[in-house]
Amino acid sequence: MTEELKQTGATNAAARNSGGSVIRVKKLRKLYGDLAAVDGITFSVEPGETYGLLGPNGAGKTTTMRMLSGLSPSNSGSIEVAGINVVKDNRAVREVMGVVTQHDGLDGGLTVFQNLFLFGFLAGLSRKDSKNRANEVLEFFGLRGRSKDNTYELSGGMKRRLAIARSMMTSPKVIVMDEPSTGLDPQSRNRVWEELAVLKDAGVTVLLSTHYMEEATILCDRLSIMDNGKILDEGTPDQMIEHHAPKEVAQLRVAPAALRTVRDYLTEREITYREVGALVSVTGLNGDRPDLSGLSDVEGVRTSYRAGNLEDVFLTITGRELRDG
Ligand SMILES: Nc1ncnc2c1ncn2[C@@H]1O[C@H](COP(=O)(O)OP(=O)(O)OP(=O)(O)O)[C@@H](O)[C@H]1O
Ligand SMILES: [Mg+2]
Repeated sequence: MTEELKQTGATNAAARNSGGSVIRVKKLRKLYGDLAAVDGITFSVEPGETYGLLGPNGAGKTTTMRMLSGLSPSNSGSIEVAGINVVKDNRAVREVMGVVTQHDGLDGGLTVFQNLFLFGFLAGLSRKDSKNRANEVLEFFGLRGRSKDNTYELSGGMKRRLAIARSMMTSPKVIVMDEPSTGLDPQSRNRVWEELAVLKDAGVTVLLSTHYMEEATILCDRLSIMDNGKILDEGTPDQMIEHHAPKEVAQLRVAPAALRTVRDYLTEREITYREVGALVSVTGLNGDRPDLSGLSDVEGVRTSYRAGNLEDVFLTITGRELRDG
């Protein structure tokens, strides 16, 4: 990933984008029967920005991405990508935008190099250009050593990296990625995050969806909280945390034998808490630590404090845990 990835190709998004937002979505709506899978969302993504749609299963993230990529028609609203009206011209957008879908869609019977080459060739590059570009992309993503491997032999993490690499074959200025690291182990996830950071450095505009708050915090310049087809709020991760999360959350790791005592203690003092497995989270009022001193001697209870995060934001805004799905 040392060599700078050149932005080539005549259909570069930048050439078409006359300035302003790279992605502009207004009042976008998609119905499946009676269900509004996407229910009137509005957001914009600026050049070079990484923007996240953060939401649980069924929030409408994939449906949004599919409409943006011109793969699925909308019921109403407008979508503009790099100056292209996607609602009217859903083919043109594919020339300027890279897409990484939730399921990689790689051809398992081909090698890593062949997957890249074929994708470029089918996208309109000449044989020579596609070959050169495939080599550049392999170099950029540190995949050169794997170029002759069969795709079906690759680990989940490698496949994901190849899918991201493939989206760069046509030198897009804007990429949409649906859950880039879902299902990956922590190490592979880190590699994917490193790759996305490199793309950002290269000036690529990225729209990604995720249900990992950590991913959103690390990667996104700005993000929306999405739930039930609606965007509930948007901002930088810091702004969202400042507006919607408590400054501090106490976390009690509680052994099963002590759970009753802890619940009674908190309930008696009208301290609100939530339980996820053996973890009891107590959300103090801003800056006001609830009095948990009476629990310090209880065997089987370990208390620690952490700063408010995007999961707390989601809970405040929706009343549900992000991980509930
Ligand atoms: N082809 C379809 N036909 C009918 N309903 C659909 C279809 N695709 C999606 N839906 C519904 O639309 C809603 C939004 O789905 P979508 O796949 O966009 O969610 P998501 O945020 O991507 O979720 P996940 O995190 O699980 O990928 C869900 O209620 C889903 O069941
Ligand atoms: Mg999805």
